[in-house]
Amino acid sequence: MRRGSSDGTRSATADSSAPLDRIICRSPSMAAVLRDIEKIAPVDVSVLLLGESGTGKELLAQAIHELSSRARGPFVAINCPAIPETLLESELFGHEKGSFTGAVQQTLGKIESANGGTLFLDEIGDIPQSMQVKLLRFLQSQVIERVGGGRPRQVNVRIVYATNQDLGHQIAEGRFREDLFYRINQVAVRVPPVRERGGDAVLLANHFLKRFAAEFGREPRGFSSEALQMIGAYRWPGNVRDIENRVRRAVIMGRGSVITAADLDLAEPEFSENLIDLRQARQRAEAEVLRQALAQTGSNLSQAAKLLGISRPTLYSLLRQHEIGTLGLRREQLSGGVTGRLSWRDGIDVAG
Ligand SMILES: Nc1ncnc2c1ncn2[C@@H]1O[C@H](COP(=O)(O)OP(=O)(O)O)[C@@H](O)[C@H]1O
Ligand SMILES: [Mg+2]
Repeated sequence: MRRGSSDGTRSATADSSAPLDRIICRSPSMAAVLRDIEKIAPVDVSVLLLGESGTGKELLAQAIHELSSRARGPFVAINCPAIPETLLESELFGHEKGSFTGAVQQTLGKIESANGGTLFLDEIGDIPQSMQVKLLRFLQSQVIERVGGGRPRQVNVRIVYATNQDLGHQIAEGRFREDLFYRINQVAVRVPPVRERGGDAVLLANHFLKRFAAEFGREPRGFSSEALQMIGAYRWPGNVRDIENRVRRAVIMGRGSVITAADLDLAEPEFSENLIDLRQARQRAEAEVLRQALAQTGSNLSQAAKLLGISRPTLYSLLRQHEIGTLGLRREQLSGGVTGRLSWRDGIDVAG
């Protein structure tokens, strides 16, 4: 679907499947994001996608493009920090022949090449101050000037921005311009990390397992029950990208009849990273313990409640609060291996 290149830019070609169906999820938190995207996409506003690395921001940006009236136009992505500061201006705005050493020919900038379509500015929180000023000027005028002169050109692009930075903090620290922030923050969507998506990790792992098995012509083995428990309990700091990478590797390297936790290189669940705030830390620990109790009891809610020393109603409400579904962890699925037919429309399942 995509071609990659080393300069940090990518382009996408349309896929026949409905854009949102490519986004695998079942958790209420992600379903809410997709509903927002459906509403925002057809309206010609700029969108700011906020979320950790690997949560699917670029996939959502493509979906926004494909669900918009610009779908037949280009989708041009640019990963701002991947481009050296000295080249970023010409990358965005283009340059005239001879405008600097190495500018051997006139080159179209990414903004101009997205004319009539959508420009995806990834990691916008990391662009240098000098570029912030130039970008702001463009947003105010919709006019670009190539490096090294030439006549100003009117460009019609919709911009989707993404960042994993806390822009409020960046502004407070003087690293990000407040006036630019207000320009780009027309509509913001927070994309939750995988650890806030209930049973989505297991769903995603099964999805990638099927996909890579087919792609590499391997027998589609299932995950061991221990692997499924680990997938459900792991914090996934690298989010969907990390699930994708580990499953790809396991499909290529694994030998046994099932994929094990060791094939996925999953260790004990992590508790220790970045415990900045006590409330967050408590929430996180609580969610982990709930997942472990479900895993240990094969999602038998009575047993899990007993194990945790709480009542069933309390357990229900905690599962709902943490958006933890039990479908992905049920016994028959633990032994049955690949599930993966659930979609975000199926909703949460804690009624057992
Ligand atoms: N919900 C999802 N369903 C299927 N694949 C996903 C999903 N979210 C992300 N991916 C895949 O995970 C990888 C990382 O996603 P990406 O959009 O690049 O994340 P980000 O831009 O937030 O870093 C990509 O290969 C993407 O296709
Ligand atoms: Mg990205």
